[in-house]
Formats: sequence, C-alpha cells, structure tokens
Amino acid sequence: MSTRLLILPGDGIGPEIVAEAIKVLEVLRDEFGLSVEMEQASIGGAGYEQDGHPLPQATLELAQRADAILLGAVGGPQFNELPRELRPERGLLSLRSELDLFANLRPAILYPQLADASTLRPEVVSGLDIMIVRELTGGIYFGKPRGIRLLDGGQRDGYNTMVYQEAEIERIARVAFEIAGKRQKRLCSVDKANVLEVSELWREVVDQVAVDYPDIELSHMYVDNAAMQLVRAPKQFDVVVTENLFGDVLSDAAAMLTGSIGMLPSASLNASGMGMYEPIHGSAPDIAGKGVANPLATILSVAMMLRYGLDRSDLATHVEEAVGQVLDQGLRTADIAADGSTPVGTEQMGQAVVDALRGRAS
Ligand code: IPM
Ligand code: MG
Repeated sequence: MSTRLLILPGDGIGPEIVAEAIKVLEVLRDEFGLSVEMEQASIGGAGYEQDGHPLPQATLELAQRADAILLGAVGGPQFNELPRELRPERGLLSLRSELDLFANLRPAILYPQLADASTLRPEVVSGLDIMIVRELTGGIYFGKPRGIRLLDGGQRDGYNTMVYQEAEIERIARVAFEIAGKRQKRLCSVDKANVLEVSELWREVVDQVAVDYPDIELSHMYVDNAAMQLVRAPKQFDVVVTENLFGDVLSDAAAMLTGSIGMLPSASLNASGMGMYEPIHGSAPDIAGKGVANPLATILSVAMMLRYGLDRSDLATHVEEAVGQVLDQGLRTADIAADGSTPVGTEQMGQAVVDALRGRAS
C-alpha cells in the first residue's frame, strides 16, 4: 500500500519551499523505494483565492483521506482585511481541529554548523536540543464563548475562553511523557497555575499521568519563568509540554535560540498517529517570490514525516544527514549566512540536498 501524501503549499514562500521538498520526496520515491503518491490542494489565502475559502471542502476531504500532510505556510498582508472566518490562519486552525491534530511537536535544535547564528553566546546554546510539545486543538484558541460584543454603554469588549477538559490534558501529557522516555527522560510542564484555574487543573492532571511514568523526571514551571529560563539557560530543558497559546509563544522563542527559524520542522499528530508536517516559520511575505527562502525547514519536515508518520526513520536519517552535508559544504541561504559569505537561493539549496541524498542511494 502506498502512502497518500497531501501537499498544501499555501501562501507567501510556501510554494517555493514546498517545491524543494517535493524534489526530495521524488528522490526518495525513485531512488530509495519510498512508496508514496502525492496530491496537491489549496489552503489559506490560496484556498480563498482559488475556491473562496481558506479550507476548501475539496481540500478537507483529501486531508481526511490522506496518510500524511505536508504544509508550506499560510497568511499574507493582502488577506488581513477579510472577515475573520475567511482569513488564511482560519484554514490552518480548522484543519488542525477537523483532523484532531492535538499534539504539536516542535523541536529546537542547534545545528553545530550554525553555532554562530544564535544571538546567544555559544556556550549557552551549543548542543541545544529541546522538544516543545504544544497542545494544538484546545485552550484559548478554540474555547467558547469568544467574540467582540457591544455593551450597553456603547463600549465594545473582546473575550476568549481558556478551557481544557481533563481528557485533553491527559492525552497531551501522555504524548509528552512518551517522547521524554525516548530522550533524556526529563519533562517540564509549563502553566500559569498561580493565577489561572485552567492551569491548576492542568497541573493536577499532569501529576496524575506522571504516576504511570516513574522513570521520567517531571517538573512544573510558570510560563513567565519558563520564558525567562529559555533565554537564560535553555539547556536545562529536555521536553516541555504546555497548552496551546503558551506553546505558540514559547516555541517561537525556542526556535530563535537556534538563530535559524528557517531550519526547524514540526509535526502535528492525532491519536492514530496521522499527521501534518510543516516548517515552524511563517509565510514570510516580504521575501515571497524572490527565490531566497530557506527550504531546509520544509525538507526537515519531510524527515519528521518519515520518522513519526511513515515509520521510516532509516530514510529520515538519510534526509537529515543530507542536510548536514550541505551545511558542512558551507551552503547557506540568507537567513543563516554568516557576515561576508554569499548566500545561495532556495532552488540551489534544494538541489544541493537532492544531490547529497542521491549520493547516499545504494
Ligand atoms: C503557529 C502559527 C499559527 C498559530 C497561526 C498561523 C494561526 O503562529 O503555527 O505557531 O498561532 O498556531
Ligand atoms: Mg506561532
């Protein structure tokens, strides 16, 4: 049975970086025997422009039948004036929710070749390898009631609800404990239990789940402190688990520790292991269409897909090592180029990975 892979290029630099990932997938298919069928569909602003909706019905149906999804990025300033339910981000959020992709894995790894790219001192970040496990389908992103309303006095107010059911906390905690078990066996749960009831419950449930994982060292941290610790001494963390909004914020900070958000992939999984894989960075409208974006985060998202979704960690390792090889060769896109070096473009970087990968085919 061949894997049905749905490819959603999206907006901004999405189509350019996805094109390079497709070349990598084609090499895996043609030269490494990966049995995969690829289809493409529209999402985000592109979905709105082509089909009038950020998550077109046809895209949703293909997604529901797919074994895995590879997404570029969504969003762009030209869509900011659309009604909220038609904005590109809504397409992504609906897809996460429709497919119940509750477990968002966001690694922050410092590539040794890019040690100088971080704004933090090398000794603070060298060897950094953190996994942020972000709850992705609950919390304040989806909680009700929500809205903007007109009050009696003529003023408006805006409101959202941060809400978690015990079962939602339990399942994301289990994912995080399992991942910690395959790493350094340390898990830090981040909340705001000194202020929020929802966090109080979060902490209680995480402690209950911990009973089943006696070999994992669990700690709890308030989110403000976690933000500070992340930039002060990031290597104290192994796996971090947190709710949706806190995870959104902390994962951007963690990504920047590596100095190369253009390098970092992510996975969003549901209970059956079906997943969507995407770079952590956004659609970067300012550089879209210029052929300068870094395709490596998307290519590394393919590696994550091979490892977590398709049970082909052998091929994942090939892709990751091919990326390492082009970095060793000194190739850098503009986002990771050191002062004075000449950056390569998106296609050239993609081609270099393809060549390195071909060199590894037996
Ligand atoms: C992310 C992004 C999304 C989020 C946006 C685009 C809706 O920031 O994946 O981190 O807030 O989850
Ligand atoms: Mg974000």
